Amino acid sequence: MRILAISNQKGGVGKTTTCVNLAASLAATKRRVLLIDLDPQGNATTGSGIDKSAMKKTIYHVLIGKSTLKEVIRPSIKGKFDVAPANRDLAGAEVELVNEIARETRLKVALQELQGDYDYILIDCPPALSLITVNALTASHAVMIPMQCEYFALEGLSDLVNTIKKVRQHLNPDLEIEGLLRTMFDNRNMLAQQVAGELAQHFGDKVYRTVIPRNIRLAEAPSYGVPVLYHDRASKGAQAYLALAGEIINRQTRQRAAGTN
Ligand SMILES: Nc1ncnc2c1ncn2[C@@H]1O[C@H](COP(=O)(O)OP(=O)(O)OP(=O)(O)O)[C@@H](O)[C@H]1O
Ligand SMILES: [Mg+2]
Repeated sequence: MRILAISNQKGGVGKTTTCVNLAASLAATKRRVLLIDLDPQGNATTGSGIDKSAMKKTIYHVLIGKSTLKEVIRPSIKGKFDVAPANRDLAGAEVELVNEIARETRLKVALQELQGDYDYILIDCPPALSLITVNALTASHAVMIPMQCEYFALEGLSDLVNTIKKVRQHLNPDLEIEGLLRTMFDNRNMLAQQVAGELAQHFGDKVYRTVIPRNIRLAEAPSYGVPVLYHDRASKGAQAYLALAGEIINRQTRQRAAGTN
């Protein structure tokens, strides 16, 4: 079982799109996948075809100790993966947990119930370095960082990297950076190419070879409540997320062979 937090405190960089479509792509290769929506916006829940407002029990109830994870998990409508849904209730968790003991390890403890049930667990984080995000980082083996190749992208990255370092020091010593994913990429944009080059210099082979292009099908799919694979399988967006799933699986196989994982 490999648990990945998909995180970047910058908004709108493609975290949720990556979470839903990577979940569907890994599931299409017969992996057992759970998507945990950890954002009060609930976009990953909606994008998986689940009506977030109809949910009585969500990940919020898990974090505040009113429910087990298994009680809130349900199948995505079309996608062959499971979802732990979220909705606006989750916004209250930050405040409610402030004075609680072990507030940073709520998700980690809840996940213990799932030992061996899934091959991959993907956690969609909110655009903030909040207690909710710290819960995700504490519960994960590694972080995947989607980013747009724009001028300020690298600057924002240092805050995230610092948070990862702190979580390593205090809560989760084994937390790794799984990889940096270039999203919404436009090849004709010179600045994007330049930033992509700088990323490779800073982070070397942590940068995924797969690049997610800007693709209208990826933006449309959530309105149908399906991953892009079931909206337009031949689209560049669908093919890119299938390639990313392949790259992730290959990396893990190589790491296992090297005995580091
Ligand atoms: N590769 C892409 N091509 C075209 N549109 C995209 C692509 N990736 C994401 N989008 C669109 O960009 C917007 C932001 O994407 P998304 O919701 O995945 O980002 P996010 O990082 O999860 O945002 P937030 O920080 O608000 O949670 C959405 O409307 C989404 O449909
Ligand atoms: Mg999101």
